[in-house]
Formats: sequence, structure tokens, C-alpha cells
Amino acid sequence: MNPANQETIDRYPTSLRVLHWVRAALIAGLLWAGWHMTGLDDEVASKYELYYPWHKSFGVLALLVVLVQIALRWRNPTLPKPLPTLAGHERLLSLLVQRAMYALIVIVPLMGYSMSSTYTMSDGVFFFGVNLPELLAKNDDWFVIFQWLHKVLAYALLGLILLHVAGALKHRFVDHDPRNDVLRRML
Ligand code: HEM
Ligand code: HEM
Repeated sequence: MNPANQETIDRYPTSLRVLHWVRAALIAGLLWAGWHMTGLDDEVASKYELYYPWHKSFGVLALLVVLVQIALRWRNPTLPKPLPTLAGHERLLSLLVQRAMYALIVIVPLMGYSMSSTYTMSDGVFFFGVNLPELLAKNDDWFVIFQWLHKVLAYALLGLILLHVAGALKHRFVDHDPRNDVLRRML
């Protein structure tokens, strides 16, 4: 696209809109499943037979989706520009939150993989029927660190998502200027 037409781009391209919502559903499900499964009693059969392997599979899938999305948006000339009608501090906050979310949706699954790979008692990294290679050396001291990072960063991501969603809803339902409605750019 000719960059001169940039001013007229008022929505994200279809591929990025679809990926945004697929990824949002995956990450919301993973946050819920991670929280739920770690709270289950070890005696509950579904904990290690169902939840753990499927959490790992969907977690690796989420990472692949994010990498495709980052590749598609990289230097993409058809992305909408930050809305000029938003206050400067709102544009800055939304940019910082989006960048931080991008960083965490890559780092959190990598920490999950590293945790599973270093744990001496791990059942491996299950990916929809295939056991992925465990590239890191077994070491329970590192496992504890990766486990802690996976947990803390996953809940930090949840905090950012809540802020992100609150911002999108505020611009749609609270702002009096309809030009501030960022949500229509993602629908
Ligand atoms: C965006 C992707 C992911 C998100 C948002 C996510 C989120 C979470 C959350 C919230 C927990 C619960 C932490 C706690 O309360 O202790 C958890 C646990 C866990 N996650 Fe993930 N996860 C993701 C990807 C992965 C991946 C790719 C793997 C492995 C390949 C993985 C492996 C695990 C394991 C093994 C646990 C249980 C840890 C324990 O028993 O203490 N996760 N995850
Ligand atoms: C797990 C949940 C979610 C994650 C990880 C997430 C992540 C992101 C990221 C990284 C972007 C930047 C897109 C880019 O420039 O490439 C974005 C944009 C956007 N998201 Fe989300 N999102 C989530 C859920 C939601 C929900 C539930 C809503 C609506 C209520 C929403 C509304 C938007 C909007 C409107 C934009 C475009 C903002 C703009 O044009 O400046 N997102 N999201």
C-alpha cells in the first residue's frame, strides 16, 4: 500500500484482527487453566493426565500464534496509526501496555517450556500428541526459578490484559468523543 494512503486506514488488517481474537481466547483459557490446575489436589486424575499436557500444548500453540502475528505486523504499512484524538498520556499508556503484553506473551510460554524441560520429574513437553525435544539440561534449581518466573509473569500479563480491556471499554463507553473508539479498529 502507498504510505500516502495511511491516513485512511481505520482498521487492523483482517489477518491481524482474527489473530488478535484467537490469541486472546487462547491466553484467557491458559490463564484460567493454569490457575485452576495448580489448585487441584494431586489425587485428582485429570490434573496430570488432562490439564497439564493440554495446558502445555495450547501454551506452545499460543507462542506460535504470537510469532506469526509479530511477523505479520512487522513493518506492515497497513496498520492504523495511534488515534490523534486520544490524550497524549492515553496514547503513551496504551503503547506501553501493548509492548509489555507482546513481551510477556513470548516470555511466559518460553518460561513454561524451560520449566518443563529442566524439571527432572517432568512428563515432557506434550504438543498435541507429539513430545517436543527438551533442549535444556535437567536441573531442579533452574526449574524452581523458571516455575517462579512463569507464575509471576503470567499473573503480571493478566494485570496488563485487565488494564488493556478497561482502556478499550472506556474509550467505547465512557469517552464522549466517538472518534476515540479504538475497539472498532479491532472488530
Ligand atoms: C501464554 C502462554 C501461557 C500462559 C498464559 C500460562 C499461564 C499459566 C498460569 C497462570 C499457571 C498457574 C501458575 C500458578 O498459579 O502456580 C501456569 C502453570 C503452568 N504452566 Fe503455563 N502458561 C502458558 C504457557 C505454558 C507452556 C508453553 C508450558 C509448557 C510447555 C506451560 C507449563 C506450565 C506448567 C507445567 C504449569 C504448572 C506449574 C506448577 O505445577 O507449579 N505453560 N501457567
Ligand atoms: C488475552 C487477551 C488480550 C491480549 C493478550 C491482547 C493483546 C493486544 C495487543 C498486543 C494489541 C496490539 C495490536 C498491535 O498493534 O499489533 C492489542 C490491540 C487491541 N486490543 Fe487486545 N488483547 C486482548 C484482549 C482484548 C479484549 C478483550 C479487547 C476488547 C475489549 C481488546 C481490544 C483491543 C483493541 C481495541 C486493540 C487496538 C488498539 C489500538 O488500535 O490502539 N483486546 N491487543
